[in-house]
Amino acid sequence: MSNVQNSLDYSLLERLTQTYAPSGIERAVAEQISEIIRPYCDSLTQDKMGNLIAIRKGSGNGKKIMVAAHMDEIGVMITHIDKNGFLRFTPVGGVHITELPHRRVRFSNGRIGVISQEKLDKPADLKLSKLYIDIGAADQDEAEGMVQIGDSAVFTGEFVWAGSRIISKALDDRIGCFVAIEALKRVQTEHEIAFAFTVQEEVGLRGAQTAAFALEPDVALAVDVTLTGDTPKAHPMDVKLGSGVAIKVFDRSMITPPQVKQWMAETAEKERISYQWEVLEAGGTDSGAIHLTKGGIPAGVLSIPTRFVHSPSEMIDTKDVEAAVELLVALLEGPIPF
Ligand code: CO
Ligand code: ZN
Repeated sequence: MSNVQNSLDYSLLERLTQTYAPSGIERAVAEQISEIIRPYCDSLTQDKMGNLIAIRKGSGNGKKIMVAAHMDEIGVMITHIDKNGFLRFTPVGGVHITELPHRRVRFSNGRIGVISQEKLDKPADLKLSKLYIDIGAADQDEAEGMVQIGDSAVFTGEFVWAGSRIISKALDDRIGCFVAIEALKRVQTEHEIAFAFTVQEEVGLRGAQTAAFALEPDVALAVDVTLTGDTPKAHPMDVKLGSGVAIKVFDRSMITPPQVKQWMAETAEKERISYQWEVLEAGGTDSGAIHLTKGGIPAGVLSIPTRFVHSPSEMIDTKDVEAAVELLVALLEGPIPF
């Protein structure tokens, strides 16, 4: 199935990563995805939470499969604007406070700010209350002309190539959206597929929860990033960049049922797609919420190995992306053995 390799449109991934969509304000990404997938869907709607739901009808003899990828990215929200025009903020999603000084953030109107810190007696004193954003305003009035309390900003981080690898902000989880889009374009199946591009994953898997309840699928697959253990003195983890799509076994939000793991691994083996097992000791993703819906929904996750997750320089390998698209298409086209 090497046809996937040459036909992926990475300029679409670049556009998706550079689009502003902090949790709760996913509209710009939803609009881009809608425009691309509309010709390939039988129906395309947005639910009350903002999840974008694309349906590909089945033959009537198949199952109903939900595919979830989250549109939102981590960011910060303004809590206070002081007399001198400096902003205080709170994280939206999993933001590492100690990594923030001198990162840039971007608001929905394009305004750029730089995060900096008050004078510290020792580096260990760095905490959220010591940080502020400077948007170049001379005073409070000027700042309030540009941004308001409750406005969110995302981190900046340009999309660049490094050989077969890509470095960018927001690969978590625009790469999952990209894999779902590419699968949606290719899949030919008797199953009904509901592609859910979800909202508010980074603040607690919220969009996936309502989408799964409404869709009530027979089985669900999420596509998201996972950590790797292949950098100097990394926390031990048997996931490597470039070694294939990762099939989740465990994270803090779910334990994949044996029949789902077996279905995913056997499909990968049959199609000669490289894969690796993922045991993630921190974090969770949409399948964590989906599998607890109604009477329980068997759910799995295809993960894209990613270095430096939740930084402006997340790194992926296109070999893993290709494996993920191939595996997702094969799973959606084949029989479901449970
Ligand atoms: Co994330
Ligand atoms: Zn994610």
